[in-house]
Amino acid sequence: MQVKEAIKTRRSVRKYTDRPVEDRMLEEILEAGTYAPSGGNNQSTHFLVIEDPAVIARLRKVATEQFAQMQLKEGMYKSLAATIRQSKEKGELYDFTYGAPVFVLLANKRGYGNAMADCALALENMFLQATELGIGSCYINQIHWLTENEAVLDVLYEIGLEKDELICAGAVFGYSAMGERAPLERFGNRITYMK
Ligand SMILES: Cc1cc2nc3c(=O)[nH]c(=O)nc-3n(C[C@H](O)[C@H](O)[C@H](O)COP(=O)(O)O)c2cc1C
Repeated sequence: MQVKEAIKTRRSVRKYTDRPVEDRMLEEILEAGTYAPSGGNNQSTHFLVIEDPAVIARLRKVATEQFAQMQLKEGMYKSLAATIRQSKEKGELYDFTYGAPVFVLLANKRGYGNAMADCALALENMFLQATELGIGSCYINQIHWLTENEAVLDVLYEIGLEKDELICAGAVFGYSAMGERAPLERFGNRITYMK
Protein backbone atom coordinates (compact mmCIF):
# COMPACT_ATOMS: atom_id res chain seq x y z
CA MET A 1 0.00 0.00 0.00
CA GLN A 2 1.26 3.48 -0.88
CA VAL A 3 1.37 6.14 1.85
CA LYS A 4 -1.24 8.14 -0.05
CA GLU A 5 -3.63 5.16 -0.06
CA ALA A 6 -3.16 4.64 3.69
CA ILE A 7 -3.84 8.36 4.29
CA LYS A 8 -7.03 8.22 2.25
CA THR A 9 -8.42 4.92 3.53
CA ARG A 10 -7.72 5.35 7.28
CA ARG A 11 -10.93 5.85 9.26
CA SER A 12 -11.69 5.97 12.97
CA VAL A 13 -12.92 2.50 13.93
CA ARG A 14 -15.42 2.32 16.80
CA LYS A 15 -16.35 -1.37 16.66
CA TYR A 16 -13.87 -4.26 16.88
CA THR A 17 -13.90 -8.03 16.41
CA ASP A 18 -12.56 -10.36 19.15
CA ARG A 19 -9.45 -11.15 17.08
CA PRO A 20 -6.32 -10.13 19.01
CA VAL A 21 -3.64 -8.04 17.30
CA GLU A 22 -0.61 -10.23 16.60
CA ASP A 23 2.56 -9.20 18.49
CA ARG A 24 4.55 -8.60 15.29
CA MET A 25 1.79 -6.31 13.94
CA LEU A 26 1.68 -4.34 17.17
CA GLU A 27 5.48 -4.07 17.18
CA GLU A 28 5.38 -2.62 13.63
CA ILE A 29 2.73 -0.10 14.65
CA LEU A 30 4.73 0.96 17.70
CA GLU A 31 7.95 1.15 15.71
CA ALA A 32 6.21 3.50 13.25
CA GLY A 33 5.31 5.68 16.24
CA THR A 34 8.90 5.79 17.44
CA TYR A 35 10.05 6.91 13.98
CA ALA A 36 7.93 10.08 14.08
CA PRO A 37 9.86 13.34 14.24
CA SER A 38 10.17 15.00 17.65
CA GLY A 39 10.96 18.56 18.68
CA GLY A 40 14.73 18.96 18.99
CA ASN A 41 14.97 15.18 18.41
CA ASN A 42 13.82 14.86 22.03
CA GLN A 43 12.41 11.30 21.60
CA SER A 44 10.76 11.50 25.02
CA THR A 45 7.38 10.04 24.02
CA HIS A 46 6.51 7.10 26.29
CA PHE A 47 4.19 4.49 24.75
CA LEU A 48 2.13 2.64 27.38
CA VAL A 49 0.69 -0.43 25.68
CA ILE A 50 -2.23 -2.05 27.49
CA GLU A 51 -3.38 -5.45 26.22
CA ASP A 52 -4.75 -6.92 29.46
CA PRO A 53 -8.56 -6.59 29.14
CA ALA A 54 -8.90 -6.38 32.94
CA VAL A 55 -6.55 -3.39 33.07
CA ILE A 56 -8.34 -1.65 30.17
CA ALA A 57 -11.67 -2.26 31.98
CA ARG A 58 -10.27 -0.94 35.28
CA LEU A 59 -8.90 2.23 33.70
CA ARG A 60 -12.23 2.78 31.95
CA LYS A 61 -14.16 2.21 35.19
CA VAL A 62 -12.04 4.71 37.16
CA ALA A 63 -12.25 7.24 34.32
CA THR A 64 -16.03 6.97 33.87
CA GLU A 65 -16.49 7.36 37.66
CA GLN A 66 -14.51 10.62 37.48
CA PHE A 67 -16.39 11.88 34.40
CA ALA A 68 -19.73 11.05 36.05
CA GLN A 69 -18.86 13.47 38.89
CA MET A 70 -18.13 16.38 36.51
CA GLN A 71 -20.59 19.18 35.80
CA LEU A 72 -21.80 19.79 32.26
CA LYS A 73 -21.12 23.41 31.33
CA GLU A 74 -22.33 25.75 28.58
CA GLY A 75 -19.88 25.89 25.66
CA MET A 76 -17.98 22.81 26.81
CA TYR A 77 -16.06 20.90 24.08
CA LYS A 78 -18.78 18.66 22.59
CA SER A 79 -16.86 15.39 22.91
CA LEU A 80 -16.03 16.04 26.57
CA ALA A 81 -19.67 16.93 27.23
CA ALA A 82 -20.78 13.71 25.49
CA THR A 83 -18.31 11.71 27.60
CA ILE A 84 -19.62 13.26 30.84
CA ARG A 85 -23.23 12.65 29.78
CA GLN A 86 -22.59 9.02 28.80
CA SER A 87 -20.62 8.37 32.01
CA LYS A 88 -23.51 9.69 34.11
CA GLU A 89 -26.09 7.68 32.13
CA LYS A 90 -24.27 4.38 31.53
CA GLY A 91 -21.49 4.25 34.14
CA GLU A 92 -18.84 1.65 33.35
CA LEU A 93 -21.03 0.28 30.53
CA TYR A 94 -19.96 3.37 28.59
CA ASP A 95 -17.13 1.90 26.53
CA PHE A 96 -14.96 4.72 25.22
CA THR A 97 -12.37 2.17 24.06
CA TYR A 98 -14.96 0.42 21.87
CA GLY A 99 -14.03 -3.13 22.91
CA ALA A 100 -10.65 -2.88 21.17
CA PRO A 101 -8.01 -5.39 22.30
CA VAL A 102 -5.16 -2.84 22.44
CA PHE A 103 -5.19 0.55 24.17
CA VAL A 104 -2.05 2.65 23.77
CA LEU A 105 -1.50 5.78 25.86
CA LEU A 106 1.14 8.27 24.80
CA ALA A 107 2.85 10.17 27.58
CA ASN A 108 5.46 12.87 27.54
CA LYS A 109 7.42 14.96 30.01
CA ARG A 110 5.51 17.47 32.15
CA GLY A 111 6.37 21.02 31.05
CA TYR A 112 7.87 19.94 27.69
CA GLY A 113 6.48 22.41 25.12
CA ASN A 114 6.30 19.92 22.24
CA ALA A 115 4.70 17.13 24.29
CA MET A 116 1.36 17.16 22.46
CA ALA A 117 2.86 17.72 19.02
CA ASP A 118 5.32 14.84 19.41
CA CYS A 119 2.59 12.46 20.62
CA ALA A 120 0.16 13.47 17.86
CA LEU A 121 2.81 12.91 15.18
CA ALA A 122 3.64 9.51 16.65
CA LEU A 123 -0.04 8.59 16.64
CA GLU A 124 -0.59 9.49 13.00
CA ASN A 125 2.42 7.35 12.03
CA MET A 126 0.84 4.50 14.03
CA PHE A 127 -2.58 5.01 12.41
CA LEU A 128 -1.10 4.89 8.91
CA GLN A 129 1.03 1.83 9.70
CA ALA A 130 -2.02 0.10 11.18
CA THR A 131 -4.03 0.92 8.06
CA GLU A 132 -1.37 -0.63 5.85
CA LEU A 133 -1.49 -3.79 8.00
CA GLY A 134 -5.29 -3.99 7.81
CA ILE A 135 -5.73 -3.04 11.45
CA GLY A 136 -8.29 -0.49 12.60
CA SER A 137 -7.58 2.35 15.00
CA CYS A 138 -9.17 5.29 16.75
CA TYR A 139 -7.82 8.30 18.66
CA ILE A 140 -9.01 8.18 22.29
CA ASN A 141 -8.81 11.39 24.32
CA GLN A 142 -10.60 10.48 27.56
CA ILE A 143 -7.50 9.62 29.61
CA HIS A 144 -5.72 12.77 28.39
CA TRP A 145 -8.64 14.81 29.73
CA LEU A 146 -8.08 13.21 33.16
CA THR A 147 -4.28 13.31 33.13
CA GLU A 148 -4.09 15.39 36.33
CA ASN A 149 -6.83 13.39 38.08
CA GLU A 150 -5.49 11.60 41.20
CA ALA A 151 -7.65 8.46 40.88
CA VAL A 152 -6.68 8.00 37.23
CA LEU A 153 -3.01 8.79 37.94
CA ASP A 154 -2.93 6.00 40.56
CA VAL A 155 -3.87 3.46 37.88
CA LEU A 156 -1.53 5.04 35.32
CA TYR A 157 1.47 4.83 37.68
CA GLU A 158 0.76 1.10 38.08
CA ILE A 159 0.70 0.76 34.28
CA GLY A 160 4.12 2.41 33.99
CA LEU A 161 3.59 6.17 33.77
CA GLU A 162 6.51 8.02 35.37
CA LYS A 163 5.88 10.79 37.94
CA ASP A 164 7.36 13.42 35.59
CA GLU A 165 5.06 12.46 32.70
CA LEU A 166 1.53 13.30 31.60
CA ILE A 167 -0.79 11.51 29.17
CA CYS A 168 -1.02 13.58 25.98
CA ALA A 169 -3.03 11.23 23.76
CA GLY A 170 -4.34 7.71 23.37
CA ALA A 171 -5.54 5.30 20.73
CA VAL A 172 -7.08 1.89 20.36
CA PHE A 173 -6.10 -0.76 17.80
CA GLY A 174 -7.79 -3.95 16.64
CA TYR A 175 -9.50 -5.66 13.73
CA SER A 176 -12.43 -3.61 12.51
CA ALA A 177 -15.98 -4.91 12.72
CA MET A 178 -17.22 -1.94 10.68
CA GLY A 179 -16.34 -3.06 7.13
CA GLU A 180 -14.85 -0.77 4.49
CA ARG A 181 -15.86 2.86 4.66
CA ALA A 182 -15.27 5.74 2.29
CA PRO A 183 -13.29 8.74 3.52
CA LEU A 184 -15.39 11.52 5.03
CA GLU A 185 -16.06 14.50 2.79
CA ARG A 186 -13.48 17.26 3.25
CA PHE A 187 -15.36 20.54 3.90
CA GLY A 188 -12.81 22.44 6.01
CA ASN A 189 -9.03 22.58 6.29
CA ARG A 190 -8.47 25.65 4.08
CA ILE A 191 -5.33 25.92 1.97
CA THR A 192 -4.08 29.39 1.01
CA TYR A 193 -1.31 29.73 -1.56
CA MET A 194 0.82 32.74 -2.34
CA LYS A 195 3.04 31.94 -5.33
C1 LIG B 1 -7.24 15.20 18.55
C2 LIG B 1 -8.28 14.15 18.25
C3 LIG B 1 -9.01 13.61 19.29
C4 LIG B 1 -9.96 12.62 19.05
N1 LIG B 1 -10.59 12.02 20.10
C5 LIG B 1 -11.45 11.03 19.86
C6 LIG B 1 -12.03 10.33 20.95
O1 LIG B 1 -11.76 10.59 22.12
N2 LIG B 1 -12.92 9.33 20.67
C7 LIG B 1 -13.25 9.00 19.37
O2 LIG B 1 -14.06 8.10 19.18
N3 LIG B 1 -12.69 9.64 18.34
C8 LIG B 1 -11.79 10.62 18.54
N4 LIG B 1 -11.19 11.24 17.49
C9 LIG B 1 -11.50 10.81 16.11
C10 LIG B 1 -12.30 11.87 15.33
O3 LIG B 1 -13.61 11.92 15.83
C11 LIG B 1 -12.25 11.50 13.84
O4 LIG B 1 -10.92 11.53 13.40
C12 LIG B 1 -13.08 12.42 12.96
O5 LIG B 1 -14.45 12.31 13.29
C13 LIG B 1 -12.91 12.09 11.48
O6 LIG B 1 -13.25 10.74 11.20
P1 LIG B 1 -12.19 9.73 10.55
O7 LIG B 1 -11.04 9.60 11.53
O8 LIG B 1 -12.94 8.45 10.36
O9 LIG B 1 -11.72 10.32 9.25
C14 LIG B 1 -10.22 12.21 17.70
C15 LIG B 1 -9.46 12.75 16.68
C16 LIG B 1 -8.49 13.69 16.94
C17 LIG B 1 -7.65 14.21 15.81
